[in-house]
Amino acid sequence: MKFMIIVFLFAISFISGEVYNLDESSEVSISKEGSLQMSISSNPTTGYYWYIDESTLGVVTTDNLDGDYISSQSHLLGAGGSQIFTLYCTDLCVEGENTSVKLEYMRSWEKEPIEIVDVTVYIVS
Ligand SMILES: *[C@@H]1O[C@H](CO)[C@@H](O)[C@H](O)[C@H]1NC(C)=O
Repeated sequence: MKFMIIVFLFAISFISGEVYNLDESSEVSISKEGSLQMSISSNPTTGYYWYIDESTLGVVTTDNLDGDYISSQSHLLGAGGSQIFTLYCTDLCVEGENTSVKLEYMRSWEKEPIEIVDVTVYIVS
């Protein structure tokens, strides 16, 4: 299982470069005609899950507002894992500018997130 996760993460990074870890930094870079991936810790057994706030998209966009969930290597019940999100540049991307994308950690049946991460996305060449 551990091996599969490592292979999977390697495959992701091979396809599209770095996977940014939002647990460490909320600043990421995207190339003008490219995409990026970013991961963030998540524990769905609590009912909480990360969602991209759709209203913050425009300059960059995604095909999946709730990302892809990857369970952790640990088999402990409730240990959690992480969600991986992909962002794509649209035609509105201008090199040298930045945009921000908000992620909210919330229960689908509740309106208020318990945590918000404001990701600054720098557009590079
Ligand atoms: C992001 O871009 C705005 C202009 O749109 C600029 O004022 C701001 O300083 C930039 N932020 C960072 C962190 O570079």
